[in-house]
Amino acid sequence: MTRFDPFQTLELIKSRRTIRKFDYTRALPEDALQRVLEAGTWAPYSPYYIQGWKFIAFRGEARDTVASIIIRSRAILKYLRYMYEHSPYGAEHESWEEHEWKEYAHEFAKNLGNAPVIILGFVPKDPHPSIRFHLLASAFAASQNMMLQATAEGLGTGLISFKSPHLEAELVLTAGLEVDKWSFVFAMNLGYAAERPSASPRQDGLVEIRG
Ligand SMILES: Cc1cc2nc3c(=O)[nH]c(=O)nc-3n(C[C@H](O)[C@H](O)[C@H](O)COP(=O)(O)O)c2cc1C
Repeated sequence: MTRFDPFQTLELIKSRRTIRKFDYTRALPEDALQRVLEAGTWAPYSPYYIQGWKFIAFRGEARDTVASIIIRSRAILKYLRYMYEHSPYGAEHESWEEHEWKEYAHEFAKNLGNAPVIILGFVPKDPHPSIRFHLLASAFAASQNMMLQATAEGLGTGLISFKSPHLEAELVLTAGLEVDKWSFVFAMNLGYAAERPSASPRQDGLVEIRG
């Protein structure tokens, strides 16, 4: 079995940051985008659906259409507001004045940080809560695979989540999927980062080894 450097792997995982400012002018290498999507499909999945997901990457005008739908969600700003009020943003959070954060948040909300690629994640609609739970969990596991592969490619990523039946349905339709068969799960920004946020601290005491 191939051995991977465990220290490098952990460094890769730790170096992934949520990016909210992208360099729109730098196109992604085609093969890097392919690998990011492929990484998603290698995530663990629950057995109710054999890889019950669809990940669709949008670029150019198609990306702008998707972004124009997502930015209508008031949750984008609300989310960042909540973040500002409830958790430290990066190690330098103490120095973020409220107005600076507001500007940062509004800049992001205008066009999703100008990410050149937006990947939408969808799962099949299923009436059973337990199956829905498994589908969502599998889709988010895949999102992490994609984010880690993107990090290895030198690219930045950021997840965007919101609940809005109307906008979600628009995204499903825009992706060319049937509204009664598919649910929107996440949008993921992807591109070269135009910021280098520091990591918000991880708390001690959340993991244990017993026995
Ligand atoms: C399920 C999930 C949903 C998220 N949704 C959003 C979002 O809607 N908007 C956003 O700006 N960040 C979103 N994030 C990113 C988190 O805010 C970010 O991961 C967290 O602040 C930790 O920062 P880091 O990713 O740089 O380690 C989401 C993350 C997860 C796991």
